[in-house]
Amino acid sequence: MSSDEKALIADAKSKILNKTTSLKGDERKVDLDRYVSTETLKQEISSLYHRVPTVLIHSSEVSEPNSYQAVQTTLGSLIVSRDASGKVHVLRNACRHRGAKLVDGKGCSKRIICPYHAWSYSTDGELSNVPGHSHCFPSLDKSENNLIEIPSVEMYGFVWMCPNTAGDSDLKTILSEHLGDMEEELLGLNTNDFKVYKRTKKTWKGNWKLFAEGGFETYHFTFAHKNTIAPYFHNNTAVIDQIGNHFRVFMPTKVLTTEDSPEQHALSMHDCSHTLYYFTPNMGLLVQKEHIDLIQMRPISVDETEISISTLIPESADLQDPQQISHWQKNNEITNRTLDEDWALGASIQESINDNAVPYLHYGKNEWALHAFNQVLNHLIAKN
Ligand code: FES
Ligand SMILES: [Fe+2]
Repeated sequence: MSSDEKALIADAKSKILNKTTSLKGDERKVDLDRYVSTETLKQEISSLYHRVPTVLIHSSEVSEPNSYQAVQTTLGSLIVSRDASGKVHVLRNACRHRGAKLVDGKGCSKRIICPYHAWSYSTDGELSNVPGHSHCFPSLDKSENNLIEIPSVEMYGFVWMCPNTAGDSDLKTILSEHLGDMEEELLGLNTNDFKVYKRTKKTWKGNWKLFAEGGFETYHFTFAHKNTIAPYFHNNTAVIDQIGNHFRVFMPTKVLTTEDSPEQHALSMHDCSHTLYYFTPNMGLLVQKEHIDLIQMRPISVDETEISISTLIPESADLQDPQQISHWQKNNEITNRTLDEDWALGASIQESINDNAVPYLHYGKNEWALHAFNQVLNHLIAKN
């Protein structure tokens, strides 16, 4: 166990003992504009979503050469593909003939064939065949009509896109700079060694930031999660750290006690917590003892967000074994049920804001990370 991990657990124990949580800064009154302004959303999309690397899918979702999957993003529909040589590409899901959508869902084949007039593309986006080429399109240069590619990089078991970067920029460096010290945390999670068990997507009526903010405190656990996970956690007790532009929320479960015993000393951080690693702008990795939930948010409009939750399980898990399936299914269901409680409350805040039912929101000293998150967003928008 690293000294960092030991310090984190020691910090959590002292907070349990003192019945407190990470406190910082001042109490605040928060202006509501940022949750209703379409101008703000436009800036967030162009300066955050399209300027910093964001995750599209887990690598295991396109594990085979020539596999591909359509993904809906703030740029529209994209295809994430793995070409015959194993390299990942992110391509516009739009045919270069008259623009028809090429792919729905996922597939695996050497050619992606347009459903309209059957122009076909290889999985690296190259236009390979045009029916009737010589007589219908005598002047068409195929090499100028490959699918439009979006800059992307595959790292840490995820496919990241970063649309507004120059073609020759080194995305690995950009990603590494964006992650900062969070890179080490991500490496420690070995997300390469996982695969997706199940992905669920739902649209919620709320600004994307409200859903992100809900993860930065555990003040709500006893009340909001009374029907799900509340009995397993210490309420309003968390060790919350800002790590560069990102956040780590260590939420101790009741497995962690203040008792001085060999069993307690042997606990690793993931034995005794759920820990949320939040990657600005829009991704959370909720790490539990055996699996990780990948949470992704996609703004649809200023007060509508698609939230996707993928349950990542160890690569070695045997999904032919009914017992294992039932185990992962239970984990998947409890997480979804719990997070739905959060999303429903986020949507209820949006409703109050839209109705002008409150003049501002309050953040306590225990909710400092909600403010810090918004500061990070402001900073990135100003910089980009
Ligand atoms: S629009 Fe794709 S082949 Fe015509
Ligand atoms: Fe919650």
